[in-house]
Amino acid sequence: MTTQTHPAAARLRAEHDELMQAQAELGRARRAFLDAPSGETREQFSNTLTEFAEHLQEHFEEEEDGGILQATSEHSQRVSAEVDRLRAEHEAMRGEMRVLSSDLRSRLEDPAQVAVVGHALDELLHHLGDHERAENRLVLDAYWDDSGSGD
Ligand SMILES: [Fe+2]
Ligand SMILES: [Fe+2]
Repeated sequence: MTTQTHPAAARLRAEHDELMQAQAELGRARRAFLDAPSGETREQFSNTLTEFAEHLQEHFEEEEDGGILQATSEHSQRVSAEVDRLRAEHEAMRGEMRVLSSDLRSRLEDPAQVAVVGHALDELLHHLGDHERAENRLVLDAYWDDSGSGD
């Protein structure tokens, strides 16, 4: 099927797989810190979260600039409103990441703030999950007509 072979779609799939692995690693670092808070596990969680935010930022840029958001909107006018919506979600999640990352290390030393950070992270990951699923659907929508589905 066209969706399987389109370079932008193949790249999206590989990147989403990588992001899921990074998210799993973040989950492990978070659990290690919550199960046994110490200078070491705090540092590890903080570093992993910072790396995850950087990874996400690069992923968004890749999708916007020559990646799936640019490719699908150039390919099919029909999906342009959805592409705009997904771009706006990138902006919203960039804002969430900025809030999450600010003073992260010192906030993780305060149990009340640890809960706030945890809640903000859950929100971000929830939004990200919805967003990534919508992108996978976008690819199907944008390229489906090319694959001979109309016959
Ligand atoms: Fe995205
Ligand atoms: Fe994505």
